Amino acid sequence: MTGQFITIEGVEGAGKSTQVAFIKQRLEEQGKQVVMTREPGGTDISEQIRSLLLTPMANPMAIDTELLLMFAGRAEHVEKVIRPALERGDWVICDRFTDASFAYQGGGRGVSRERIKALADWTLKGLKPDLTFLFDLSVELGLKRVIARKNGVDRFEQEKVDFFERIRQSYLESAELEPNRIKVIDSSQSIEHTQQQLTMHLKTLF
Ligand code: TMP
Repeated sequence: MTGQFITIEGVEGAGKSTQVAFIKQRLEEQGKQVVMTREPGGTDISEQIRSLLLTPMANPMAIDTELLLMFAGRAEHVEKVIRPALERGDWVICDRFTDASFAYQGGGRGVSRERIKALADWTLKGLKPDLTFLFDLSVELGLKRVIARKNGVDRFEQEKVDFFERIRQSYLESAELEPNRIKVIDSSQSIEHTQQQLTMHLKTLF
């Protein structure tokens, strides 16, 4: 594989969408062919799984169902989109990936790291992001931003503050475990401030 695999992570309201477009632009300026995608989602089947996962429901989904659906969508996405793109030499930017399962299903829902790792090993067969940007900001500020920009909230955004605190802590723990891959980006300030940090890290790739 010659392409690089970049993933974007963070709690709700961290401004990922804006920054994904910025990263794509920077890579294209360097002459890279870029595939931009997201999880859950990224293929027809995985987008259908996404709507199952995000639509608010009267009866709560079992935790294992949620976890397995995340990985079912991921298996399809990796096989149909991510791996072929990397093998062609394209660069892939993915808005959320397996680190989100460790943070949300692990930290948020309480599934053990070992259980998630077993699924990751089984599904990804060694595939790992080359670089991950973790957009970090306080849960309070993130949720304020989500409420300000949306009419409704999805199934995850309906959760309480302590759920998101656990997710944030879990993401930060992952970053501590893998500091070379996961770069923590302070997203509490302006868009420009976030972009300066991204530019600094992206330079190391070229
Ligand atoms: P998004 O709002 O960033 O598109 O992500 C959709 C939601 O899915 C978000 O609340 C995080 C959640 N999610 C998980 O719980 N586990 C995962 O593995 C992924 C990829 C996303």
